Amino acid sequence: PKQPILIQGPMPIEAEYFADLLKDVRIEHSGNFTFYIGMLNDYPIVVTKTSKGVENTAAATAIAIERYKPRAIINQGTSGGHDKSLNVGDIVLGKRSFNAGNFKTPRLAEGEGSHPMDWIPMDVMASESSAGEGDAAADAEKVRYYAGNEDLLASAHAVKETHIRGKVVEGTIASANFWNNEIDRMNWLHENYGTSVEEMETASAAMMAEAYGVPFLGIRILSNNLTNGGKYDPSTATDNQKFVKNVVLHYISTL
Ligand code: 5AD
Repeated sequence: PKQPILIQGPMPIEAEYFADLLKDVRIEHSGNFTFYIGMLNDYPIVVTKTSKGVENTAAATAIAIERYKPRAIINQGTSGGHDKSLNVGDIVLGKRSFNAGNFKTPRLAEGEGSHPMDWIPMDVMASESSAGEGDAAADAEKVRYYAGNEDLLASAHAVKETHIRGKVVEGTIASANFWNNEIDRMNWLHENYGTSVEEMETASAAMMAEAYGVPFLGIRILSNNLTNGGKYDPSTATDNQKFVKNVVLHYISTL
């Protein structure tokens, strides 16, 4: 039997449109997750509604890999822009993603305050010893980027022009359980880590995909962009799933 393609979306508006595209659907529930197992053009697909955030997404990814042995994984949904040249409705293909909540702070004494722009990146996978103290700690002071899979990126590029609402570009996806409304914080992430958008899931799924050796790509549409006044528009969630459907159909045709 063919190995399925796994398509993930956090919220109902980010997963149910895709789940409705499937034929012969069987639904499985586990923890905070719903798995829709079905067929798209005679190819097996598993859509996961993961719920929001990095913990849910990491767990939902590991469980799906163990249960369904996917051929490839696409984590998709909405995001907020960090790049002033990206508008609501544009799509970012995750050339790379990283966990933007992983920081170590410099040492400051009581009364010296907290200065988030001085925080140092921290790689929790740098070693098996402490990331904060000891010989290996300095090695952990770096960002761990997860690269998007080249074949999935190629399929996304091949169907780019099917997305008419906006442009489709490669970029860097910053994931953490955060929603930044401070423009200076967003600019700091953009300037120091090259972020295109922020959201709450991609890098945690990418981490699990890498751990298990499964090809992975994040595909995120901007539903908002405070850096250029782009107003929140939830209808972008459906447009992203329509685009991802075309990516999947192209990818399947190459297998
Ligand atoms: N910041 C963080 N998460 C965002 N999302 C959309 N826009 C943003 C933003 N500006 C996504 C997250 C999460 C939900 C709140 O929407 O990935 O699933």
